[in-house]
Amino acid sequence: MAFRGSEIISKNLRVDGHRLVGRIEELAQIGGLEGGGVCRLAFSDEDKQAREKVVRWMTDLGLDIVIDRFGNTVGIRAGQEEGPPVMMGSHIDTVETGGSYDGALGVLAGLEVIETLNDANIGTRYPIAVAFFSNEEGCRFQPDMMGSCVFTGVLSHEEASKAVAPDGTTIADELERREIGGSANPGDLKARAFLELHVEQGPIMEAENLQIGVVEGVQGISWSEINLKGVSNHAGTTPMHLRHDAGFVAAEIATYVRKLARDIGGGQVATVGVIELHPSQINVVADQAKMTVDLRNLDENLLLQAEHKLEQYAAQSAKNEGVDIEISRLARFQPTPFDTGVINLVAKTAENMGFGIKRMSSGAGHDAQILAPSCPTGMIFVPSRGGKSHNIEEYTDPDEIAAGANVLLGVALELAE
Ligand code: HGY
Ligand code: MN
Ligand code: MN
Repeated sequence: MAFRGSEIISKNLRVDGHRLVGRIEELAQIGGLEGGGVCRLAFSDEDKQAREKVVRWMTDLGLDIVIDRFGNTVGIRAGQEEGPPVMMGSHIDTVETGGSYDGALGVLAGLEVIETLNDANIGTRYPIAVAFFSNEEGCRFQPDMMGSCVFTGVLSHEEASKAVAPDGTTIADELERREIGGSANPGDLKARAFLELHVEQGPIMEAENLQIGVVEGVQGISWSEINLKGVSNHAGTTPMHLRHDAGFVAAEIATYVRKLARDIGGGQVATVGVIELHPSQINVVADQAKMTVDLRNLDENLLLQAEHKLEQYAAQSAKNEGVDIEISRLARFQPTPFDTGVINLVAKTAENMGFGIKRMSSGAGHDAQILAPSCPTGMIFVPSRGGKSHNIEEYTDPDEIAAGANVLLGVALELAE
């Protein structure tokens, strides 16, 4: 029996929110941290265990599993007709101090949609699928959204597999050691459309008491690494004017980054997430500093301006201190709009279900922004309590999770007809 997404309201077809929350909590046990939260870094043991669990769930639902050499994994439910599936998905890797919902919600809600259709014995014209992409977070291996870049051909598998973690391990090592890669060729599988349900990871929806975020696009992202080389020396005997203090330059740049966000305006955000000094000892002038800068803006021109100003300031600060500087780009994504048709379908579906909606853009990067150029793509947001994410206190209420999954069900059904 097949029917349109718009009919699910009248047919009162809904997901099983408890079952979905149960899976989220079960998956969160893998990499669960003592004081709460989750650490499931890409290509780690925990990532491998989580992959095995989700693939088991996909198999139990009767899905046809396709895993590419980079570990991107897709479970496909056949439709009445052949062809590329309507794909729902996200990621199951987390940052080191992550939560239970970032990424996992989009993958497990996709499974819940499929289980709901199986239970109701509802078929679809086109195949529908659930996917998780490798290394979305990009904290251990840059850039982020790496798996979806390989899946869509933005990055080759070979190129991506060369990425090196701070401990010198490459992705190629990890793929082999943990037998994460499959036999499919990245890029062979296309999506008819792509939908990502995700927690907002910000404070807006909660502040306005809205259940569904209709995401219109994702802001541009620029990640840089700055390496500074000065001269280590005695903290007591070295006169200030004779120092080449890499730590001082790093601190100057970090302070400037905050000012840069204010000066550029237009929603510009700027973050120094890493500063590592060498030898990092109380009585030694640092001879080396490694730092990262994360710049984001919805406006590409303003983002380019921010990058340029950062590079100019950093070079001048290093020159003044007689310190060598090297700036390298770790990731760069342009602002990405989603498909108007999908955006409007998300809005209509959510409103028909009686949810309060807000059209908004995403501050965080997502796999959807990488899929967007290759197929009609959209995202659905649900609120984050206290706007927290990339934080062990990340939390979304079960009713809001069910609301998001029901909108995902309606939109996926509509697109699969
Ligand atoms: O950095 C991001 O926005 C995403 O969580 N990878
Ligand atoms: Mn995410
Ligand atoms: Mn994230």
